[in-house]
Amino acid sequence: MINPRFDALGESPFERLNRLINGIEPGQPPILMSLGEPQHPYPDWVGEVLYDHRGDYGAYPALRGNEDFLRAVADWLTQRFELPDGLIVWNQHIVPLSGTREGLYFAPQIIVPRRKDNQQPAVLIPNPFYHAYAGAAVAVGAEPVYLPATRDTGFLPDLEALDDALLARTAAFYICSPANPQGTVAKPAYLERLIEMARRFDFVLLADECYSEIYAGDPPPGVLQAATASGSLANVLVFNSLSKRSSVPGLRSGFLAGDPDLVRRIQTLRSYGGALPSEPVLAASAALWRDEAHVVENRARYARKFDIAERIIGNRFGYYRPDGGFFLWLEVGDSEATTATLWREAGLKVLPGGYVARDAPDEPNPGAPYIRLALVHDDPTTEEALTRLSSVLPS
Ligand SMILES: Cc1ncc(COP(=O)(O)O)c(C=O)c1O
Repeated sequence: MINPRFDALGESPFERLNRLINGIEPGQPPILMSLGEPQHPYPDWVGEVLYDHRGDYGAYPALRGNEDFLRAVADWLTQRFELPDGLIVWNQHIVPLSGTREGLYFAPQIIVPRRKDNQQPAVLIPNPFYHAYAGAAVAVGAEPVYLPATRDTGFLPDLEALDDALLARTAAFYICSPANPQGTVAKPAYLERLIEMARRFDFVLLADECYSEIYAGDPPPGVLQAATASGSLANVLVFNSLSKRSSVPGLRSGFLAGDPDLVRRIQTLRSYGGALPSEPVLAASAALWRDEAHVVENRARYARKFDIAERIIGNRFGYYRPDGGFFLWLEVGDSEATTATLWREAGLKVLPGGYVARDAPDEPNPGAPYIRLALVHDDPTTEEALTRLSSVLPS
């Protein structure tokens, strides 16, 4: 017995990539730039905090997390997004997660009804997108509707192009800012418009902000910040984690925050099947959310690598320095062929952009002409990788 609903999802981008280059020998020692897995050092004391709390592995973690962690997150959100005191209350507005992915996948279960506006509900997803959004939409029986986020639309979905009939059956809308893969940062007015639409058409805005601390200029605005204009967190949930901010993707630590009614319902459902972070992980996470020094250092490392990219790639392949995130999104034409060439001749593993996007109705796959490179290595490795890319690809 098999649920056919998931057939439409197909393989993950990384399975497809492995199939594409399977059997091709890398021409040089491999450098893996396909995965957004930060390789930067993280503070030494993380291990010490985990060790100090090792006795807690003997207990099941509390469903709602612990006060110290929740207060650390509430304080961080309040400071980082300049929120009014009391908007985020530690025991009302936050759910600890084992990484954002867990929450991004889980949240639609309490949001998406069987029918909305008497039709199959829609979940709106920017195209290209992080693949968990599509999996979550399909899991709850919604129709994933992919919204072009191309150079022409400023790499974000064009909100004014959405028609009322679609919005009326929309149950959830994922937005990612800074965006993976393009690095676009949504402006406050864009976020305010989204919140206003969410309330008018009664859907939930699911804001993936896991790249919020990797940026080039001013700190990216957040959805909680945009919601303060209305003084309410209704219809919004934001997701963030330490994976990118603190370079600890293996710690599996994040949170969701927002609408207190949704938070309460998510906590109840998590008591049935949530993957709760352990107490030692919560202790290390609280310490990381309270420390900004390592985040400033981390951001400087990424800035240096974009300097390297700028020097080596210049204005070829539509290079631009993204406002946020750590990806190069290079326009190369045939991205599958380019990916195979880079592996064969340069030992570089990159991701074809089409694998993180879908064919949109009447439009070509908006990611197909691009390759995505994650600048997650140290400076010399980055320099080596981009020099190889530059010498292998025709300008
Ligand atoms: C856009 C986006 N969202 C979410 C995640 C998941 O991150 P985590 O679960 O480690 O917080 C990733 C990871 O690469 C991502 O790129």
